[in-house]
Amino acid sequence: MMDKAVSLPKILVTRKIPETGLKLLRLSCEVDLYEDDNPIPRELLIKKVKHLDGLLCLLSETVDDELLTSAPALKVVSNYAVGYDNIDVAAATRHKVVVTNTPGVLTDATADLAWALLLASARRLVESDRIMRQETYSGWAPLYMLGADIKGKTLGILGAGRIGAAIVKRSMGWQMRVLYFDHQKNASLENEFSAEKVDLDYLIKESDFISIHLPLTDKTHHLLNKESFQKMKKTAILINTARGPIIDEAALVVALKNKWIAGAGLDVYENEPQIASGLKDLENVTLAPHIGSATVHSRNEMARIAAQNLLSVLKGKKPEFVVNPEVYNKGR
Ligand code: DGY
Repeated sequence: MMDKAVSLPKILVTRKIPETGLKLLRLSCEVDLYEDDNPIPRELLIKKVKHLDGLLCLLSETVDDELLTSAPALKVVSNYAVGYDNIDVAAATRHKVVVTNTPGVLTDATADLAWALLLASARRLVESDRIMRQETYSGWAPLYMLGADIKGKTLGILGAGRIGAAIVKRSMGWQMRVLYFDHQKNASLENEFSAEKVDLDYLIKESDFISIHLPLTDKTHHLLNKESFQKMKKTAILINTARGPIIDEAALVVALKNKWIAGAGLDVYENEPQIASGLKDLENVTLAPHIGSATVHSRNEMARIAAQNLLSVLKGKKPEFVVNPEVYNKGR
């Protein structure tokens, strides 16, 4: 007698992720992998979720009430990212859908990139590279391409969570004064690095380098805007490896153009993959294409964790990284 075919849970992975994750998923799920280089079109996503038990998605997919309503069997949305501003978490909880993310494994990679942008911006490295490639270098001169010193300067961190703290640890070699803005006290930063918890206005006015490590929420949207740039030091350099909309990008273009601040190093943008008009024409900004977590190790680990999070939910277990633990009080 033939065994009755066991039906596996159906899941969609919205972009090619490292094999580490796909392999795990294929062991116990029927995996629909959307392999296109571009994000899955919204209409297609809505069509596909109708029959899904699990969704592994990226920042490019908006998971909102409309999508969740179209997915009656959906049990889990596993975001391949630490940030989850693409997901309406309250709506997911209402729909009894568990939301998970991938914290921790991209902390060092993102902190390294923030420092790379800081150093490149301070020492005008990308501008220098362009000069050499364009063969416009005419020889050493005492006043040529002067940049900013870092040693002993003030570093202002917006958000003293994992990544913010990793930025501070890396600042030790430069003997910096560290200020941080966060709703929570970070005792270890205060004890180990003499970091001072300050209000936003003070941090903005006092810092030579400002690095953003906050999540994007209604409260942090355009947290840095025209008024903030006008309060910053003229020599200030702003780094953003968190989320683009935390900065009013059009206002930043004006600030950089008018030299209200000295420079910026950006890895994230308000309307990715577009960037604000005028930004790319400025010499005093270093631009990266959202590569904070783009190391082999981080991306492999993100794939493994995203897969494990999803599988745990489908197996009826609580995953390691749940964004909406309150969903478990909903009688799932
Ligand atoms: C995240 O994880 O939130 C990043 O922005 C994507 O690497």
